[in-house]
Amino acid sequence: MLTRFSRRGFAKAAGASALGSAASFEARAQPAASTPPGFPAGFLWGTATASYQVEGAVQEDGRGASIWDTFSHTPGKVRNDDTGDIAVDHYHRYKDDVQLMKALGVGAYRFSIAWPRVFPQGTGAANPKGLDFYDRLIDALLASGIAPWATLYHWDLPQALQDRGGWESRDTARAFADYAGHVAARIGDRVKHLFTHNEISAFIELGYGQGIHAPGLRLPPRRLNQARHHAVLGHGLAVQAIRAAARPDVKVGPAENINVCVPVIETDEHIRAAERATRELNAGYLTVMLEGRYTEAFLAWTGADAPTFTAEDLAAIASPLDFVGINIYAPHNYVRAAPDAPSGFALAPITAGFPHMQTPWLKVGPEALHWGPRHVAKLWDVKDIYITENGCAGTDTPAADGIVYDTDRVMFVRNYLTQLQRATAAGVPVRGYFLWSLLDNFEWADGYASRFGLHHVDYATQKRTPKLSAGLYREIIARNALA
Ligand code: FCB
Repeated sequence: MLTRFSRRGFAKAAGASALGSAASFEARAQPAASTPPGFPAGFLWGTATASYQVEGAVQEDGRGASIWDTFSHTPGKVRNDDTGDIAVDHYHRYKDDVQLMKALGVGAYRFSIAWPRVFPQGTGAANPKGLDFYDRLIDALLASGIAPWATLYHWDLPQALQDRGGWESRDTARAFADYAGHVAARIGDRVKHLFTHNEISAFIELGYGQGIHAPGLRLPPRRLNQARHHAVLGHGLAVQAIRAAARPDVKVGPAENINVCVPVIETDEHIRAAERATRELNAGYLTVMLEGRYTEAFLAWTGADAPTFTAEDLAAIASPLDFVGINIYAPHNYVRAAPDAPSGFALAPITAGFPHMQTPWLKVGPEALHWGPRHVAKLWDVKDIYITENGCAGTDTPAADGIVYDTDRVMFVRNYLTQLQRATAAGVPVRGYFLWSLLDNFEWADGYASRFGLHHVDYATQKRTPKLSAGLYREIIARNALA
């Protein structure tokens, strides 16, 4: 099996195929004689959230139902039966939240647009009030000197589309493109960076494969492979629709959580093996999006259950991008060279005692933030990479003095950013970093128990309190360096 996740678990095995190469990256990426002390000039520092996780206001201004409303209201699906009905009330408190961002000094805010606010039925008539909230948010950000970066699909599919098959239906890919074009035409005057999907691999594997996220399905392989194909097709059609509808200065790319492969030891042979593994373990996602073909190993793995697709689909899926966003939390695999295996690589086990943050899936592997973008640059010669999510959860309880001493997150951010800086110093073209998340929020099936925010939220009062890590992040941003 090529990829298998438990909530961000680890892939189990690998296929076989030749490596695509982009020698030009290595030629460019010669380490500087002495490592510069900080991040490159103009490096973009940001923070991120997503609509269903923060907005609340699920019944306001004509919003339709999403699959996450349905799922979270189904008893037993979310820890403590929590829902996003109120979340952190960002819909009403966005002005205060923009001030929190301003205090951090971020240059950009990555938020997502709720499709069911814009098209309550997924297609058909647009809701006249559907984009008003985002207009207000965008204007408030710009007034504070913060660039709005908007994600079009962060998992809140209109329920009406799920009722017609969701991502199992090819029509959903077309509907997504129509929605993307509509939004781009309306906000492209002020929003210059759009993301198509957030983490296709997560919403397909967890939502349609394992059933632990909305819509809670456990599809057999053939149907799962087809849903995955429709999701990447939706990405490609949306890129085309945005190009057709928006001004030419609007840039577009995905925000994908690649399966990060770390070489077991940093020798040439293990590094090459980790590159091969990266290409194969992301074959249904970033690889097809950047190469316009499914690898031989992927097709061999899917076999008789391979998705149905056409050459036109592949061309659309590989529509040229302006940048690649990658969400990185943890290393997924440690990879070693296996000269006798057809693939040339093998996966070393993630040991039982491997350290993790509060959420067990979030293994502590700061080097993922070095190898993830490095492999993307090397394999596909990507010139502009953004880390569109990185962060960790904690329990984060205010101490008696009212301060939230999230020393675990401080440790995490320092160590991960040290590795990111190692990458930028070596010439890997990472242009920016978005810390997940601005605020504690609704963490999908974990409900409100896992807190990912730089700001603590008291869910009873909605009071926001900066954590210690917010102070750390403010310092890093101000210096454009770790120290
Ligand atoms: C990512 C999701 C984001 C959040 C973080 C912790 O996979 O994109 O919404 O849940 O994990």
